[in-house]
Amino acid sequence: MGRPLRIGIAGLGTVGAALINILNNDGDAIARKLGRRIVVSAVSARSRHRERGVSIDEFAWFDDPVALAKSPDVDLFVELVGGEDGPALASVSAALERGCPVITANKALLARHGVALAAMAEKNGAQLGFEAAVAGGIPVIKTLREGLGSSSITRVYGIMNGTCNYILTRMGAESISFEECLKDAQELGYAESDPTFDIEGFDTAHKLAILTSLCFGTEIAADQVFVEGIARITQADIKVAADLGYKIKLLGMAQKRADGIEQRVHPTLVRKTSSIAGVDGVLNAVALETNHVQELLLAGPGAGGEATAASVLSDILDIARGTHVPPLGVPTDDLVPCTRAPMRVHEGGYYIRLNARDVPGALAAIATRMGEGSISLESVIQRPDLRASEPGVEQETSRTVVLITHETIESAVREALNRIASDGFIVGQPQLIRIEEF
Ligand SMILES: NC(=O)c1ccc[n+]([C@@H]2O[C@H](COP(=O)([O-])OP(=O)(O)OC[C@H]3O[C@@H](n4cnc5c(N)ncnc54)[C@H](OP(=O)(O)O)[C@@H]3O)[C@@H](O)[C@H]2O)c1
Repeated sequence: MGRPLRIGIAGLGTVGAALINILNNDGDAIARKLGRRIVVSAVSARSRHRERGVSIDEFAWFDDPVALAKSPDVDLFVELVGGEDGPALASVSAALERGCPVITANKALLARHGVALAAMAEKNGAQLGFEAAVAGGIPVIKTLREGLGSSSITRVYGIMNGTCNYILTRMGAESISFEECLKDAQELGYAESDPTFDIEGFDTAHKLAILTSLCFGTEIAADQVFVEGIARITQADIKVAADLGYKIKLLGMAQKRADGIEQRVHPTLVRKTSSIAGVDGVLNAVALETNHVQELLLAGPGAGGEATAASVLSDILDIARGTHVPPLGVPTDDLVPCTRAPMRVHEGGYYIRLNARDVPGALAAIATRMGEGSISLESVIQRPDLRASEPGVEQETSRTVVLITHETIESAVREALNRIASDGFIVGQPQLIRIEEF
């Protein structure tokens, strides 16, 4: 047996406690695989005496994660505290500055400081692992950094937030409202008490920004992601989409365009027959399209203590074996800026749901405006059975109309909708959902 690898764990919540549990149960098997033992030498959390389902009595205790990161008795620092700044940033920086390898599951930290931390790791000859930060238990970082090392990625897309996927799946299966699904998700522990970060798409944007950097060799640019959440999706949208052969998913997508990198997170209509549409409930999936492989779909648990801790452990094993790869796939000096490709010219098909006034000529006027914008309509569907649900929309004097466009550009759709609104033939805000063909 080689020299044991002594790890220090900051953060003993859902993921930290699960990691200790796995190390307790699988320690011998891991030692046989590695030829050395993984030993937890020290831990840190806010409260020393909180019940965590695992014993921490035999580990040295630190009140301060930064002091733990600086401890000479720690060969590898694991950050499972969370937060984009504060103790997470301070402790990860302290460890890297002394050349100590770091593993983190913290996407918020990486989305904001990932390039600086990767540069710090390179400068000090330390490894920085973050497999658990994107899509929890799915080994997408390793696949991108090592598995697909020589391929060039053309597009990446995926379902990267289990809370949103759970809500959209249940809305589809049980005909219940967004609000009811969210309440259930909170009661079941799938959604935070403040779910804004998840349902507004920011969590997916953080993960997408990290993937974009690994896919295209760009700096991480979470502030350049177009973000739209799922809070405006109604039962009407879910029903019409299903009748047309689609499901609605919150997707994160990144693609290289002539004028930059397009990074976007928004609800998307995907064909029921596509592989991504089959990823339901709290599951996550990331699809990678490369010049050599048409589509590689990695699907599995995107969160949860055990699955996420298993990804942390896979990084621990890599570091214990001495595997050395640049954290972001290429040296940070070679990363190029992530120039934002404008979303208003995004091309594709569109689902548009309108509350058209119940007056003669309304539909013809709407179709005319679309034609003026050179938008070709695949179908126009009137759904008197679907009552308008937006506040301020009079049910008796308007009717639900859904337009499906052929491929067109977003700026043309938005312009046509503005004209239709100023013609006075619709009430309330139109619903616009992008369609993606995979
Ligand atoms: N949970 C998941 O499914 C999941 C999935 C993927 C990635 N992640 C990421 O993994 C990280 C940890 O998530 P989690 O769900 O395990 O979080 P959590 O359950 O909230 O645990 C956070 C831990 O950090 C400790 N902590 C908070 N502030 C601290 C401070 N100032 N000093 C020392 N310790 C402090 C807490 O201590 P106390 O216990 O004493 O309060 C707690 O043990 C986050 O970055 C998260 O985004 C989580």
